Amino acid sequence: MTRLYTDMLNVAYDNNLIVKNLSIKIPDKKITTIIGANGCGKSTLLKALTRIIPTKTGTILLDGKNILKENTKTLAKKIAILPQTPESTDGITVAELVSYGRYPYQKGFGRLSKKDYEVIDWALEVTGTKNYKFRQLDALSGGQRQRAWIAMALAQETDIIFLDEPTTYLDMAHQLEVLELLQKLNKEQHRTVVMVLHDLNQAARFADYIIALKNGTIVKAGKCEEVITKKVLMKVFNIDAEIGIDPRTTKPICFTYNLIKEMK
Ligand SMILES: Nc1ncnc2c1ncn2[C@@H]1O[C@H](COP(=O)(O)OP(=O)(O)OP(=O)(O)O)[C@@H](O)[C@H]1O
Ligand SMILES: [Mg+2]
Repeated sequence: MTRLYTDMLNVAYDNNLIVKNLSIKIPDKKITTIIGANGCGKSTLLKALTRIIPTKTGTILLDGKNILKENTKTLAKKIAILPQTPESTDGITVAELVSYGRYPYQKGFGRLSKKDYEVIDWALEVTGTKNYKFRQLDALSGGQRQRAWIAMALAQETDIIFLDEPTTYLDMAHQLEVLELLQKLNKEQHRTVVMVLHDLNQAARFADYIIALKNGTIVKAGKCEEVITKKVLMKVFNIDAEIGIDPRTTKPICFTYNLIKEMK
């Protein structure tokens, strides 16, 4: 069963069409990564899928319902997003930010319940941000702040979570920690994870399904072995890549690559 899919989706900024006739199925309870060059429309697609920006034509269906017609709180209980560049947050603490993730569950005057506090503590704990709980967000390092934002998205406790380049600003160890955490949530709690990653080796290592985009259309979507290939990477990034098998994970790995120079 696929809970979330698009049908002939077009998304534009004014008359500039970015996502073009896109029909994708997001596999349920799996990890999907979206790869593609800068400006190809990855963030635009994620924003449309999470109703941050409007669509031009086509439909996005979640549980059989057009998401444009869904009630905001109901939608926010089903999908959360960590944007690529979260909005600035002057003067709030990490704990306050994470508590915003509980918004869809609040009734009346927005007082937090015992359950809300438990979930907030859990999100702080698993993202390793507990120690900065009472610190101002804008006084943290880029990586610490990124993990606080991830905590907020997790606190929303949705079945589907979108993350736009979640590993930005993170050191190598923290990148793996975040990706392993998402993998754990997927395996143990069956959450559907959809994320944009620029690191192809991480995309291959953690994804069950990869969507490779170019100019707002699909070049290839499928299992890692079908997408992380010399041919697909040539089309998507204009690179000549050497692909092998990661001896530890047995997933495809890009050892090295060169830019393909146009012959003049
Ligand atoms: N708010 C906006 N208004 C107008 N054009 C936009 C806006 N946001 C993005 N664009 C344009 O839409 C295109 C796709 O942008 P998008 O952010 O979706 O790319 P991306 O694939 O996420 O790239 P990156 O890897 O750099 O994050 C780009 O040409 C960009 O300049
Ligand atoms: Mg982007």
